[in-house]
Amino acid sequence: MEERLRDTAEKAKAALEGATNLEELEEVRGVFLGRSGLLRDIQQGIRDLTADMRPRVGQLINQTRAELEVILERRRTELKQLKVHEREEEDQIDISLPGRSGYVAGRHPLLATLNDMLEIFLGLGYTIAQGPEVESYHYGFEALNYPADHPAMDEQMTFYIADDVLLRSQTSTVQIRVMEAQEPPVRVVVPGRCFRRDTVDATHSHTFHQLEGLCVDEGITFADLKGTLLAFGRAMFGEDTQVRFRPDFFPFTEPSAEFAVTCFVCSGDGCRICKGSGWIELGGAGMVDPNVLAGVGYDTERYTGFAFGVGIERFAMNRYGIPDMRLLYSGDMRMLRQF
Ligand code: PHE
Repeated sequence: MEERLRDTAEKAKAALEGATNLEELEEVRGVFLGRSGLLRDIQQGIRDLTADMRPRVGQLINQTRAELEVILERRRTELKQLKVHEREEEDQIDISLPGRSGYVAGRHPLLATLNDMLEIFLGLGYTIAQGPEVESYHYGFEALNYPADHPAMDEQMTFYIADDVLLRSQTSTVQIRVMEAQEPPVRVVVPGRCFRRDTVDATHSHTFHQLEGLCVDEGITFADLKGTLLAFGRAMFGEDTQVRFRPDFFPFTEPSAEFAVTCFVCSGDGCRICKGSGWIELGGAGMVDPNVLAGVGYDTERYTGFAFGVGIERFAMNRYGIPDMRLLYSGDMRMLRQF
């Protein structure tokens, strides 16, 4: 019997030490130390022993039980700790993993270009005005001194919503709205979206953007226009920039000009960006036609003014090396993330 006890104790020790988690340990405890466990079995065998042997074996059993319980307790503590460790390990943040990067918003190249332009004119004392994209025939063409049969009013060139309602084809419409609303001196720039019935390709879009400028005051001359656009050109492209004016025609300016700046890449030598010419076309300009000033009730003997309009798209494309205008409106993040 003593041998059986010793044998059972050995097995119990091994099983307790070998349990790898608390559930296993509980099972082992049941098998050896439980109410109907192996130790209890042996204890019940005491009845069959002679009276003189009973105390000794009884004592031995109690001692074994006590020893096993000490081991059990120790193992319980160890396994509990192990469990906590495991959980901590599971919960732990792996700081070596790459973080989830947030998106850093960037300015759309069109807006970045426009903002830079506005900044310069704000510095020259201009304020920003805006006007509606859907316009009446009056603001769209009539008040801008277009003769009744001008081709720009053709359905092929302008989007009509009704006979008298159209999408503005230029920001010049806002010149009229601004002048109607105030007396000179006027110094405004007008950023805005314009629409023309152009077939979409790499350099054309039915929807595009312009920046209009208007300055009306006493004694304003063509020299002021040239000086203003030169100052703009130099602020935008650098101090060596030159501005070129060539005769043009617009119904609402007289005289009219198209203006260009020396290429900001080659400084006028000719390169791929300026297509070898050394110049980059920026837009149209001129002295506000007295008919227009009279139309808004300004005294044409007292006031003169100049106006100009710059296209944003072409310029942004040159500046950022964007080869196709359609990319500007594609919403393609692969393109936009580059800026
Ligand atoms: N509105 C003209 C255009 O769209 C540009 C322009 C603006 C010309 C102001 C003269 C004065 O081409």
